[in-house]
Amino acid sequence: MLKWLSVFQSALAREFGDRATIGVLATVSPDNAAAGRCVVLRELTADGRLIFTTDVRSEKVHHLETNPSAECVFWLPTLRLQFRIAGDATIDATTATRSHQWSKLSPATRFTFYGPPPGTKRESSTDRTNDTNSKNQSVQSVKSVDDSPPPSFAVLVLSPIRVESLDLTTDPHTRTQFARQDGWRPVAIHP
Ligand SMILES: Cc1cc2nc3c(=O)[nH]c(=O)nc-3n(C[C@H](O)[C@H](O)[C@H](O)COP(=O)(O)O)c2cc1C
Repeated sequence: MLKWLSVFQSALAREFGDRATIGVLATVSPDNAAAGRCVVLRELTADGRLIFTTDVRSEKVHHLETNPSAECVFWLPTLRLQFRIAGDATIDATTATRSHQWSKLSPATRFTFYGPPPGTKRESSTDRTNDTNSKNQSVQSVKSVDDSPPPSFAVLVLSPIRVESLDLTTDPHTRTQFARQDGWRPVAIHP
């Protein structure tokens, strides 16, 4: 297994166990503005790809259509470790992958894919109450009937090109870079 991958995987297991791993995923907009947002890391594949789920109508997907460059940053507070994983992110539209990731989502998370497009304006303050009322009924119906993902559901795959770890427990701090083009060998750099 790749060195960075085994280090990252075991650190995530120690830090989060069964709890969700949250990272900040950065993308670049078509007018070259940086954009970051929290996302749940749904899976880390054996060859080191990072799997996320998202709404295909969201801004981040729009960004990736024009520029696949992305970086996801993870902070592990107990271990005092930071990981930055940069590469190209694409949408995996294969039926098997979509179904597999969809099958792992809770009813409440599935429900979020049936609303209006993310980022669009809410018409009035009463929308929120209506959303909540209909949500309670709809979460149940999504749970019972919907075994296949709706068109809004997307699986986003980040294929790493560069990985960097920063360990704050040492003095001085330990910063290590790994690059695909260098065969992923670790290179110590000044923090
Ligand atoms: C803890 C946390 C976890 C989140 N996980 C996801 C996620 O897995 N996928 C996702 O698309 N959005 C997730 N979000 C919402 C995003 O941060 C963001 O608000 C949303 O995706 C819209 O982003 P965009 O307009 O930049 O595409 C999460 C937010 C928080 C606070």
